[in-house]
Amino acid sequence: MTPAPTPPVHAALRGHIVTFRGNPFLMPPADALVEEADGLVVITNGRITHVGPYSETSTHLPPGTDVADYRGCLISAGFVDTHVHYPQLPMIAAYGEQLLEWLERYTFPTERRFADGDYAATIARTFLRELLRCGTTTAAVYCTVHPQSVDAFFTESTRLGTLMVAGKVLMDRNAPDFLRDTAQRGYDESRALIERWHGRNRQFYAVTPRFAPTSTPAQLELAGALLAQDETLFMQTHLAENRAEVAWVKELYPDSRSYLDVYDRAGLVRPRSVMGHGIYVDEQDLCRCHASGCALAHCPTSNLFLGSGAFRLFDVMDAKRPVRTGLGTDIGAGTSLSHLQSMNEAYKIAQMNGHRLHPVQAFWLATQGGAQALHLDGRIGTVAVGMDADLCILDPKATPLQALRTEMCDSTADLLFSLMMLGDDRSIRATYAGGTKVHDRDESATF
Ligand code: GUN
Ligand code: ZN
Repeated sequence: MTPAPTPPVHAALRGHIVTFRGNPFLMPPADALVEEADGLVVITNGRITHVGPYSETSTHLPPGTDVADYRGCLISAGFVDTHVHYPQLPMIAAYGEQLLEWLERYTFPTERRFADGDYAATIARTFLRELLRCGTTTAAVYCTVHPQSVDAFFTESTRLGTLMVAGKVLMDRNAPDFLRDTAQRGYDESRALIERWHGRNRQFYAVTPRFAPTSTPAQLELAGALLAQDETLFMQTHLAENRAEVAWVKELYPDSRSYLDVYDRAGLVRPRSVMGHGIYVDEQDLCRCHASGCALAHCPTSNLFLGSGAFRLFDVMDAKRPVRTGLGTDIGAGTSLSHLQSMNEAYKIAQMNGHRLHPVQAFWLATQGGAQALHLDGRIGTVAVGMDADLCILDPKATPLQALRTEMCDSTADLLFSLMMLGDDRSIRATYAGGTKVHDRDESATF
């Protein structure tokens, strides 16, 4: 007997919809923004089926559908975090060091604990809950060298129904022995994880060599061999974040033209590759990123916290060869999981470089830009018919000060600007993943 078909699941959200029809670095921000002041989003089985003015779209509501009333709030695509380390959540705000010393002193001892699968499961649960509290529905996530850290992460993401990209860190040199694999073991463990998780239940695998100094050329070659087997796989690593790191890579790989070239020679520069940071790159590197479809993750709170340098966002986005770019929190070097805080610090870094980061550009980076960086913009990153219903609800009056400032707003752009400068997790009224509510600020329920 064939089982009875399951009835469709409907949901609908009413509020001020803000989303994008294009890249505001390449067109006037006002033209890139799409908004509906009293809008309705209708969702069936996790996908958006109707978007438009409430007065018209409400006629498409399937009978019996409850409308969640978010009038006074903005309905946005969920944020996309293009670079973050879930195991580093417990060591956020570690004092005093820059990148290489910070890794030795704080990061490696913290990551050691993920040999314990139960600990990994506890931190994965806490991390994903925090991410959703910040309105982020998709992230490209580093686990640790331990395969069980990946199983723990994807297990919890599957339970929540979030779309996540993650992978086991590869490190076969210049790391403590308790965190080292070998080129072959890293390859074998990654292959098994790909088979277990990639493409299942909204989970996607990223081959994850930590960075050039902690992988031998042989390990990078095998990472490239893994990627060559399946063009849908992701790749993530760190690139040119810190001056001492860049000098070290020059010593370790004297034959490569640049840091990016180390990865390129191994076949790691391609679509769905995400390079964290990319502060110290040259014009040839940017042209190569543009041509290859690989992306950069701009991680403002991390770059400021570690004193790494000032990402040249407006150079990277230059219309003559724009590079796919999203925002990354880079926890635990980053100081907040909230992309509102990433936007805040990105604005200040742009100011230091003599540029104005328009609020529409900032919100685009946090949503559609991030989705494009991951080549997932056909599924996530905008509020539009056919997209996965991954959404966040932003409350511009979350605190007394924000309410005061919001009273002064005379445009949607100004409302977005006040949110990105003053907002944080308190500004996220609710979060939806695949059409299901997974966070509600004002309810005590755990999801
Ligand atoms: N470079 C290599 N590993 C890391 C890491 O864990 N965090 C940051 N920010 N940079 C890195
Ligand atoms: Zn990082």
